[in-house]
Amino acid sequence: MKSIAELLDLKGKTAIVTGGAVGIGFGISSRLIEAGANVTIADISQGNLKTAQQKLNSTSRQVAYIQADISKEQDVNKIIKQTLSSFGSIDILINNAGIYPSTLVTDMTLEDFDRVLSVNLKSVFMTTRAIAKQMIKKKKGGKIINITSIDALHPSSAGLAHYDASKHGVWGFTKNVALELAPHNILVNAVAPGGIATPGTQSTQKPGQLPKGVDMRKMLEDFLSRIPMRRMGEPDDIGKAVLFLASDLSSYMTGSQIVVDGGVLLT
Ligand SMILES: NC(=O)c1ccc[n+]([C@@H]2O[C@H](COP(=O)([O-])OP(=O)(O)OC[C@H]3O[C@@H](n4cnc5c(N)ncnc54)[C@H](O)[C@@H]3O)[C@@H](O)[C@H]2O)c1
Repeated sequence: MKSIAELLDLKGKTAIVTGGAVGIGFGISSRLIEAGANVTIADISQGNLKTAQQKLNSTSRQVAYIQADISKEQDVNKIIKQTLSSFGSIDILINNAGIYPSTLVTDMTLEDFDRVLSVNLKSVFMTTRAIAKQMIKKKKGGKIINITSIDALHPSSAGLAHYDASKHGVWGFTKNVALELAPHNILVNAVAPGGIATPGTQSTQKPGQLPKGVDMRKMLEDFLSRIPMRRMGEPDDIGKAVLFLASDLSSYMTGSQIVVDGGVLLT
């Protein structure tokens, strides 16, 4: 039987974290690096990649930084190619990149809807399809972890119809792909965060980001008062749940979604 230290040890494994430069993605990247994995941080923002590089040991050969828009197939291929050339394999895929602009459905344009679905859902299809092929070829199994949201189960506020459609989509995709890839020992699970303090959630509170008719301050106050644990989550709260799913601690789990929300879905 493996010891707890061995179960958590990711040395020799390689992970890709999309949107891994700040917020939840950075929390996940940090824990995977600490557990010994090689990590590719793929992010659309060069500025955020620089911030991540400064926070992590920028000279470490354990981390690759790749600027990429996850909604574009050529960028997905670039991430895979560069990761394979830096580290030789891909064992863990974390589909984390996501956007959550707030717009009432009656004001929502086709472009608004397409953008959210492309970044949050189509990207998950493209990375999974390409990386599952690599994993199957290597015959060593793998882990795919999709960051959904409590909005994959229950709406948290008005203005997020496109977002909620995308996250329900990711959860449905997770379950079907888990079924399909289980015979290859590729385990596919999801983590559904509640309210987590990140640059993304901070920017939704800026004036001009609010949809007409939605009082964001009131909505946030209501949301906070509904959290039984009485605090927003930290990126590391999600990083720890993802580490569990990425490690051998979760050796018999596939097609599951772990809710990490301070109890908010109970209310
Ligand atoms: N923060 C929360 O309260 C919360 C709750 C539930 C679910 N989530 C989910 O967690 C994930 C991360 O959220 P966050 O709050 O950390 O976001 P964030 O905005 O703080 O950080 C997201 C990162 O993803 C990058 N990114 C955005 N679009 C990208 C693209 N097209 N290609 C590559 N990178 C891209 C950004 O540059 C940024 O570095 C998202 O999928 C989000 O839906 C967040």
